[in-house]
Amino acid sequence: MTRTVIVLAAGEGKRMKSDLPKVLHPLLGRSLVGHVLAAAAPLDAQTLVVVGHRAEQVAAHLAETAPAARTALQAQQNGTGHAVRIALEALDDVSGTVIVLNGDVPLLREQTLTDLVEAHESAGAAATVLGATVPDPVGLGRLIRDTDGALVRIVEERDASADERAVREINAGIYAFDAAALRLALTKLTTQNDQGEEYLTDVFGLLVAEGAPVRVHLAADHTETLGCNDRAELAALRALMRDRINTALMRSGVTIMDPATTWVDATVTVERDAVLEPNTQLRGATSVATGAVVGPDVTLIDTSVGEQAQVVRAHAVQAQIGPNVSVGPYAYLRPGAVIGRKGKVGTFVEIKNASLGEGTKVPHLSYVGDATIGEQTNIGAGNLFANYSGTTKSHTVIGSHVKTACDTTFVAPVRVGDGAYTAAGSVVDKDVPPGALAVARAHQRNIEGWVRRARPGSAGAEAAEQALAQQRELPTTEG
Ligand code: UD1
Ligand code: CA
Repeated sequence: MTRTVIVLAAGEGKRMKSDLPKVLHPLLGRSLVGHVLAAAAPLDAQTLVVVGHRAEQVAAHLAETAPAARTALQAQQNGTGHAVRIALEALDDVSGTVIVLNGDVPLLREQTLTDLVEAHESAGAAATVLGATVPDPVGLGRLIRDTDGALVRIVEERDASADERAVREINAGIYAFDAAALRLALTKLTTQNDQGEEYLTDVFGLLVAEGAPVRVHLAADHTETLGCNDRAELAALRALMRDRINTALMRSGVTIMDPATTWVDATVTVERDAVLEPNTQLRGATSVATGAVVGPDVTLIDTSVGEQAQVVRAHAVQAQIGPNVSVGPYAYLRPGAVIGRKGKVGTFVEIKNASLGEGTKVPHLSYVGDATIGEQTNIGAGNLFANYSGTTKSHTVIGSHVKTACDTTFVAPVRVGDGAYTAAGSVVDKDVPPGALAVARAHQRNIEGWVRRARPGSAGAEAAEQALAQQRELPTTEG
């Protein structure tokens, strides 16, 4: 059976009060419409999204995130039926099954949609609607059945009688149609309703009147059918999605210490026996390998974490954290940070566009930018990689088994050979050969008696006097 998916996404979503079209609002890793497209992906169907309000913005988002989807423009939003008509006109020769999805129902599961389409096709139905019994049907279309339980029509709340409004079985805005039956029924839609729009839902009443077989497919979990009209509803959907993702992860063997404060995007993978501590956000294309411990207080965006790594109180964007690496507390990994196996990025350390070889450690208070560092090297406390001249960025290369002392500054471009050392406080702007000690600082001189002369009578001067007197009295150890 040929299948075509049409996603309705032309509406503005006024109650969102947003410059961003409603269907582009983000929800744990995808836009609302992105979740709908993901649920439809297993149907493997040609897909067309109807765009209208801020069409260019929506089309640009789709080109980036769902390039296989086509778009059709509904310049004026004259209703869901009108939108589907425009979609069918934009596609040639649609036959088989047409699946229509509201772009603002993001919790729909792929399994539910697949089940609906298969039930529709195997029954040979003209139309099937996804229905659900909800605690609060306010604002939604109601499924009106006859005394035998057969669907008679779908009525919008604003057009419904008091009796009809009491019905708690609602239309989720998810449907499967026989293409020919749909096309014919769409020509018969009127705008005789409270909104003066062409309602897709009227197709059901029209088909029933002709004696065509229509069906209701019930969603086992009514939360899958929830739409989103304002940001409070969006937050409620987000919490439901968070719980769904966390439950699936826990069932697959991930330990989540505090599911209420753990936010994992739908696009993230976490392997079994990983542990997520409280206040952890895993976003985008992030992956966490088995045995890794992430959190508390960690945000990872498009970042990979290797097996058995530990990441504590850190923020990482487009970074690669290798196996058995330790990151944090209080570390910032920026794009291009690549930390090799068993490495360490410690406290108050920032790494950008730099790769650290196996076993290399940057334990304290350092900025490492635009650098390549070999294996088993130790970067001392407070090292800075001065990579930016004000106009150009340059690269620093540090070898393996290097030990840099505290407060070394590397002025790029500069190279440090394998096994070299630096002296504390050095500003290294010339290459250091393998095995050399680089000393690049002024020598210390002590001006004796300076405090007594320059700050007479001060507490410091008195303390110094006493210490010096004691030194004179005490026999020195050298005798
Ligand atoms: C629609 C259904 C209602 C159902 C509800 C489920 C109709 C008439 N009503 O109501 O029975 O309970 O969804 O969420 O279909 N859209 C367009 N072009 C238009 C109008 C809408 O593309 O001209 C898109 C919107 O962007 C949205 C979807 O269609 O993604 C649904 O439209 P919306 O206005 O939200 O319909 P509801 O009033 O929620
Ligand atoms: Ca809606």
